[in-house]
Amino acid sequence: MSITYAVSNQKGGCGKTSLTLNLGSSLARTGCKVCVVDCDPQANATMALGIPQPDELPVTLPHLMNEVIRNGGRPEKSALLSKREYILNSQGMDFIPSSIELAETENNLVNAMSRESVLKKIVGSFKDDYDYVLLDCMPSLNFVTINALNAADRVLIPMQPQFFSAKGLELLLATVANVQENLNPALTIEGALITMFDGRLKFHNEVLAILKSAYGGYFRIFETKIPVSVRVTETQAQGRSIFDHDPKGKIAEAYAAFARELLSHSASRERAVSGNE
Ligand SMILES: Nc1ncnc2c1ncn2[C@@H]1O[C@H](COP(=O)(O)OP(=O)(O)OP(=O)(O)O)[C@@H](O)[C@H]1O
Ligand SMILES: [Mg+2]
Repeated sequence: MSITYAVSNQKGGCGKTSLTLNLGSSLARTGCKVCVVDCDPQANATMALGIPQPDELPVTLPHLMNEVIRNGGRPEKSALLSKREYILNSQGMDFIPSSIELAETENNLVNAMSRESVLKKIVGSFKDDYDYVLLDCMPSLNFVTINALNAADRVLIPMQPQFFSAKGLELLLATVANVQENLNPALTIEGALITMFDGRLKFHNEVLAILKSAYGGYFRIFETKIPVSVRVTETQAQGRSIFDHDPKGKIAEAYAAFARELLSHSASRERAVSGNE
């Protein structure tokens, strides 16, 4: 069964792209087939996957979305989609690149037929070829992000240990609830991953305790925390996977541990669901 994760948080710079890429690499290393979809006009994931000039690519996510919009929401009419040439490969994963034009697609969505389902239709056309599809969302709760939440089975929330992260979380949770209510009732929150954590800082531990007491009853706050390390920025700048750049370092270890925790959480949840049937 294929699982689609939206990696989302409207707070900028909290580690969405790093989580998407490093989780993708971790899962690919365990033999899973992974496809990352860059849903951000900043195209940081695309660049970190070795495309320095995404705007020069012939086909990126906005081209696909614009074509489906032009065809009245019918993906079967899309010539670009049927060719599959838009899917690239790097670091052991397939990926669909983004480009700045995705900002314009946001405007095109406003008047589009089934404007919340355009990305779901695109992802639906290839997701069965993968074990995991990871949607790297932009730092905004706009139509493109609503499309990602509608296309996803589960949401992963990266969070920095900061007090205002907890406040911003309310807005994200309200948006997820809205999508569940109106578009995608099967959407669930897989959990929140603390990124850029420094366990020596009292402040970070305080924020973690507040998060656990306020939200721990609603969704999982993963035991694994991603430590602060300059290695993350280095790997993205060099277009290399952390597992090539610093395979024995604490970041590679933390993301591998996170992938294990995620898989065991998923497996125990599926057992619980099938036990209730
Ligand atoms: N564990 C970490 N330690 C140190 N720096 C990190 C860590 N994780 C991410 N960073 C750096 O923080 C910055 C923001 O990370 P990232 O791009 O993953 O966040 P984002 O949520 O995707 O940002 P945006 O909202 O702009 O899409 C990047 O420069 C990244 O290299
Ligand atoms: Mg990002």
